[in-house]
Amino acid sequence: MERIPEPELMVKKEQVISYDEADFSEGEVNLINQINHYLLKKNISLSEKDLIVDLGCGPGNISEKLAIKWPDAEVVGIDGSKEMILRAEHNKEISPNQKKLKNLRYILSDIKDIKLNNFLLKKKITLLVSNSLIHHIINLDDFFNVIRSLSNNMTINFHKDLKRPLNEKSALELKAKCSHKYNEILTSDYYASLRASYTLKELKDYILKNDLSSLEVFEDGDKYLIVYGNV
Ligand SMILES: C[S@@+](CC[C@H](N)C(=O)[O-])C[C@H]1O[C@@H](n2cnc3c(N)ncnc32)[C@H](O)[C@@H]1O
Repeated sequence: MERIPEPELMVKKEQVISYDEADFSEGEVNLINQINHYLLKKNISLSEKDLIVDLGCGPGNISEKLAIKWPDAEVVGIDGSKEMILRAEHNKEISPNQKKLKNLRYILSDIKDIKLNNFLLKKKITLLVSNSLIHHIINLDDFFNVIRSLSNNMTINFHKDLKRPLNEKSALELKAKCSHKYNEILTSDYYASLRASYTLKELKDYILKNDLSSLEVFEDGDKYLIVYGNV
């Protein structure tokens, strides 16, 4: 199936509300466990010296879980959509875990325009994370240039995203399954995201051609891809 890009930023209010109100917690907990597994494997424990950055943080679901899991590290969520950042700030304020989120801040910025001189990014980034971001990025160069510029040789990158289905029929089947669980707006966003996603081969080819071989790309189950390692 050909890739059909979708708009990068999620700016429409109804789209943001639908995304924010949906329960993705199972996948989010899974992602935190996966990151934890890789950190343990590398014998890395995060302390107050460490900075975790969540690119394309949306309403902050993953950022909050990162902040709670690694309370000594600082966590910064970045999103280019003002609506999303407003939601993320609001969610932090009303969270029953509010006291555990003192180490979490948000920045409103397109990832392509992140200013490294922002005071929240003064520390070197130990862990650079994204979930469901890569498929939004129209041009893969933009994504990889950003993670290259934010990483040093110690930064662990962990980026998880949807995998593009093999054909339209599979995409429509996934869309139908989604419609049983989520509303119409979220279902049509999910379908657009599936069509905008990259394939394992596209990401692997990009990494090979662009001297990024210390990054691994692999499938996670039949629906997701993970980009992991150093740049
Ligand atoms: C599908 S949501 C994922 C949100 C969050 N990571 C999560 O897993 O719940 C994708 C988010 O990436 C943001 N985004 C897309 N392109 C971006 C860009 N170029 N710069 C900053 N944020 C971007 C969108 O605005 C949206 O909030």
